[in-house]
Amino acid sequence: MSKPDNNIFPIHDKLLDRRSKEQLLQQRSKVLWFTGLSGSGKSTIANEVERVLHQMGHLTMLLDGDNVRAGINNNLGFSEEDRKENIRRIAEVAKLLMQGGVVTICCFVSPSEELRQLAKDIIGKDDFIEIYVNTPVEVCEQRDVKGLYAKARRGEIKDFTGVNAPFEEPVNADIVLQSGIMSIDGCVKLVLENVMPKIGYVKTEKKDDFFVI
Ligand code: ADX
Repeated sequence: MSKPDNNIFPIHDKLLDRRSKEQLLQQRSKVLWFTGLSGSGKSTIANEVERVLHQMGHLTMLLDGDNVRAGINNNLGFSEEDRKENIRRIAEVAKLLMQGGVVTICCFVSPSEELRQLAKDIIGKDDFIEIYVNTPVEVCEQRDVKGLYAKARRGEIKDFTGVNAPFEEPVNADIVLQSGIMSIDGCVKLVLENVMPKIGYVKTEKKDDFFVI
């Protein structure tokens, strides 16, 4: 990829700040970062979390591996270098959404500590909620919703996470979901219990004065 020149002048100071957007939306924006193997249940759980938050009146946005890779990242594959660029771009997009006051939900395999740390560094540690969907590879492979594990076993996909590319166990996750054992509803409830206090606003007596629950 060619290096950009340095004639870039960000205009952060002229933009309405994040706090104003959060006040408008009456929420605190955060990034919920789901990590886990393909087929672990990230998207299923995240979709349901988003649905509940939306029903409660929160503005959310969900970024998902398959969708992002079909669009903004359609020039990237699954080499180490491409995965890094994939996560870097997603984290930058998530940060922009968060600065716009949006509760942003990201579902990406993000298979190494380095990649998850990269996302956390871009987004900022105080706004980054790491959620590990811990489903054993045997369970993901048995489900094989997309038929990708079978393809990888037949040697038709190289570098497939969990089969012939590594997945490093997250050590810094804020929430761990044992989705092989827990129900989807149970996982969703656990996420919401953790996240709600971080994104909720309570209006006080004073006009235009908000407090986090
Ligand atoms: S990441 O490793 O760069 O974070 P990402 O979450 O964007 O991956 O994409 C993972 C999705 O791409 C999987 O759910 C699966 O559907 C698909 N996929 C295709 N090839 C691979 C591969 N080699 N490894 C992992 N996932 C793959």
